[in-house]
Amino acid sequence: MDVLIISSSPNIDGLTAACAAAATEGVQLGGGKAEEIRLNDLGVDMCHACGNGWGTCQKEHECQEVDDFQSLHARIKQADAYVMVTPVYWGDLSESAKAFTDRLRRCEATRGEESSLSNKPVIGVAAAGGSGNGTLPCLTNMERWIQHVRARAYDLLAVRRWSRDYMLEAIRAASQTMVQEYLLSEEKNS
Ligand SMILES: Cc1cc2nc3c(=O)[nH]c(=O)nc-3n(C[C@H](O)[C@H](O)[C@H](O)COP(=O)(O)O)c2cc1C
Repeated sequence: MDVLIISSSPNIDGLTAACAAAATEGVQLGGGKAEEIRLNDLGVDMCHACGNGWGTCQKEHECQEVDDFQSLHARIKQADAYVMVTPVYWGDLSESAKAFTDRLRRCEATRGEESSLSNKPVIGVAAAGGSGNGTLPCLTNMERWIQHVRARAYDLLAVRRWSRDYMLEAIRAASQTMVQEYLLSEEKNS
């Protein structure tokens, strides 16, 4: 199972990074292949809402703004599952996560059931390293995005500074179980 861990914090050793590392460990423990993609290392600009609101995303399901989004979109199509880890900023996803999810949603939600993410499991993680407030609206927005691209919310997890240790365990366990379930169902279907 090819799992992309998509993280979206500028910090390389913060709470988000620890959550992504736990997801990587879980995927590997389950027997899957994990690759972390740090959105802040890429150049993925915000959606420009081309034309009168829709660009090529509506009919061609590709984004006409050319930057690192195109190669990332191609990689997304290949993967079997995703762990989306965002720091909580203002009770929402971080800016790099928003830019990426906005553009991907436009390309994939417009494909309906043919979405490249259709029925693929997603674990969403909201890392709230400040007050601890805002995880619920952040995860609500993530859940809505998952529904729009026709993926499956396997789990949605909130992590706070003081819940860090036991929630890292939960991320590890969720990622491991997601992979094991997938591999078992592949085995049954073969
Ligand atoms: C612009 C901004 C907004 C933030 N808003 C929140 C918030 O609403 N709730 C919260 O608990 N922490 C908030 N934080 C703190 C981040 O969630 C915290 O830095 C978190 O640990 C991010 O992950 P990191 O350790 O990878 O940076 C905010 C941080 C920034 C930079």
